[in-house]
Amino acid sequence: MAKYNFNKELNRKGTSCIKWDMTETIWGKKNLLPMWIADMDFATPKFFTDALIKRVDGGVLGYGCRPQKWYDSIIAWFKDRYNWTITKDQLGFVPGIVVGIAHALRCFTKPGDKVLIFPPVYFPFANQIAYAKCKQVDCPLVIMETKDGEDFEIDFKLLEKKIKGCKAMILCNPHNPGGRVWSRAELQKIAKICLENNVFVISDEIHCDLSFKGHIPFATVNAKQAKNTITFHAPSKTFNCAGVGASEWVATDKALHDKFATYLRGGEFDAGHYDSFMPSSIFYSEKGKEWLSQAMDYIKGNIDYVEKFLKDNFTAQTIELSGKKIRTETSDGVAEEYAEAKIGTTQLIKMIRPQASFLIFLDFRNLGLSQKELVDFVVDKAHLALNDGAMFGAGGEGFMRLNVGCPRKTMERAMGQLKAAFCKKYKL
Ligand SMILES: Cc1ncc(COP(=O)(O)O)c(C=O)c1O
Repeated sequence: MAKYNFNKELNRKGTSCIKWDMTETIWGKKNLLPMWIADMDFATPKFFTDALIKRVDGGVLGYGCRPQKWYDSIIAWFKDRYNWTITKDQLGFVPGIVVGIAHALRCFTKPGDKVLIFPPVYFPFANQIAYAKCKQVDCPLVIMETKDGEDFEIDFKLLEKKIKGCKAMILCNPHNPGGRVWSRAELQKIAKICLENNVFVISDEIHCDLSFKGHIPFATVNAKQAKNTITFHAPSKTFNCAGVGASEWVATDKALHDKFATYLRGGEFDAGHYDSFMPSSIFYSEKGKEWLSQAMDYIKGNIDYVEKFLKDNFTAQTIELSGKKIRTETSDGVAEEYAEAKIGTTQLIKMIRPQASFLIFLDFRNLGLSQKELVDFVVDKAHLALNDGAMFGAGGEGFMRLNVGCPRKTMERAMGQLKAAFCKKYKL
């Protein structure tokens, strides 16, 4: 069994990567630790880069085509991991999922149509709805207390109301940010509501292979709704190869599949470059599974580390004064009244523990800062480049998204910087 080393710190600066090379341009500040955009600071597995080198060594970088292996590996991956049986003629290629969503909106909606999303959610959904000249309809998630902390839930009563008149929905399954893995019952409820309202569903399942608690493809929960659904999936997040530009889509309904495939063909939007078909063909394999399982153990370790760090370092004693008065007699017989005080603890910086993937939604709401003050605290004082929670839409205020797909040392540095900024701000 190969043992992969996720502790190794790689110098990605100067490699034309967005995460490390664009941080200064975007934030206008030097020396921020980049923990934002969703790629991981782990080496792409060598069995993949070796195959790529071999291909380049072949010497000719002509047009690539979809090998049979590309189809077979995806079909086997879905069957093996999610018990989802699909066929070759239900599959399609797009370079990226946002590209795919943009085209699906153009193909299946028209300007002015209403498209529902569940904010706070991956912000390009809203951008693409606007670019397609559709109307965004928000059905904000609600935060519920759970036995382990807090988590996002769908407000189904609100969904029943908001879905009226919508043409489409973009579902994030699992959800980003927050990493919520939707249960079968929840997906069934969504499917039923969409079916009753004739709503086309775009299900973005890019984070599903990184789930810590299983995954249910939306298209498997309701056969009728599946006929009005396109699912997007990719090896990009799972195996840290987002830059290669390789994603797949599935439509189990023939008419829907043909319509989208023809649309894509029209602009050659389904064309990949010479190695676009390699990631799925190579990663959806025993070697890929082995790497993924070790990567997920490591990511889980980082999530545990952050969870413990936040509890240990940002929990404060609080004194709550109730309106109830306590009467005491002093030694000289004078009666005094005090408000009853309850001593408790409050965790000032918390997190929503992700059930999938390597992105943690950090909850700073107990600090009582405005969003501008929060960004100033995290970016200017803690020198961390995190995604501003507000950019994910309604309900994202008070949060910042932290990418923990990195070596533990980077994680420790980030938490150390957060603690130092906290101690300085609150004079501890
Ligand atoms: C939910 C979701 N969809 C899509 C993407 C991006 O996919 P792509 O790079 O293939 O467009 C991301 C990246 O973070 C994501 O979180």
